[in-house]
Amino acid sequence: MLRAVTGGQALLPPPLLLLLSALLWGPAAAGNPELPTAVNITWSSINFKTILQWQPKPSGYFYTVEIHGHTSDTKRKCILTTETECDVTDLLRNVNETYTAHILSVPSSGMDNFEEPPFAVSEKFTPYKQTILGKPEILNYTQKGSELNVVFEDPLTPYTFPNGSFESIRDIFQHDLQYKLSYWKDQSSGKKERTTTSHTFEVSVDGTKNYCFYIQGVIPSRRENRYGQESTVLCTSVGRTILDEYGAEVFIIIAVIAIAVITLAIVLSVVLCKRKKAKAAREKEPLNGI
Ligand SMILES: *[C@@H]1O[C@H](CO)[C@@H](O)[C@H](O)[C@H]1NC(C)=O
Ligand SMILES: *[C@@H]1O[C@H](CO)[C@@H](O)[C@H](O)[C@H]1NC(C)=O
Ligand SMILES: *[C@@H]1O[C@H](CO)[C@@H](O)[C@H](O)[C@H]1NC(C)=O
Repeated sequence: MLRAVTGGQALLPPPLLLLLSALLWGPAAAGNPELPTAVNITWSSINFKTILQWQPKPSGYFYTVEIHGHTSDTKRKCILTTETECDVTDLLRNVNETYTAHILSVPSSGMDNFEEPPFAVSEKFTPYKQTILGKPEILNYTQKGSELNVVFEDPLTPYTFPNGSFESIRDIFQHDLQYKLSYWKDQSSGKKERTTTSHTFEVSVDGTKNYCFYIQGVIPSRRENRYGQESTVLCTSVGRTILDEYGAEVFIIIAVIAIAVITLAIVLSVVLCKRKKAKAAREKEPLNGI
């Protein structure tokens, strides 16, 4: 069929012919260098869960992802997909290995041809060096006297031990992993920091003030992505009274309203009383008239 189009060359001007052939046969042409290859290939990886994304949406062809490592065999995933992303977590189990992904553009009729499909190559990716540390979960925090205490746990990875329980990021990073606590007096901006290699922080604070804080993982040996995602910000509340919570204004407003209501009640009862008397006086009048 390709030959038939080629045969038409004499009848059609070359640009028109090219367009026609691209429209009719472009996506189906095996090994055709014009078959679109993936662009904007990105690795997104948090706590070793890693997803490859690329563009554009395919039309008339498929993508297949191939993961190449230095020491491991090439493996395929998301075979003949029409998606533009692929979860490759399970192919990157060797976390210290440097991987590249090939995104193959496979023609719809790709099953019966022997040519290598065109492909695009991703940037290199080393999970151990590049995965982003996710938010740590804060389990408990207290401020007793002048000590602020924060207990948290390691984020889990998608990888499991032989017994089936999930490995945490500490199981993988071990002594490369620390955590940083950032804390400050509530409503002030002067931040202080503390790091730990354990799962708790104990810091001395001003026992009469409330403090706010968050924590995040740190890999000190990294140059990039050294700091992980920040946990949610939490604040302590020591010796808080209702007045602290709602402010003095609320009490003033309540007092003003109360005074107004009382005043109104007095004024109203006085007015009603006067009217009643006046009415009684008026009712007596006709009698007087007779
Ligand atoms: C690739 O990314 C660039 C910049 O973000 C964007 O302008 C371009 O449209 C993207 N390419 C495709 C095919 O979507
Ligand atoms: C990965 O490499 C680091 C040093 O770069 C090493 O400390 C660590 O033990 C290695 N981890 C694994 C699972 O091989
Ligand atoms: C599974 O094995 C790991 C490491 O050997 C261990 O730390 C963990 O406690 C085990 N989990 C269960 C549920 O037995």
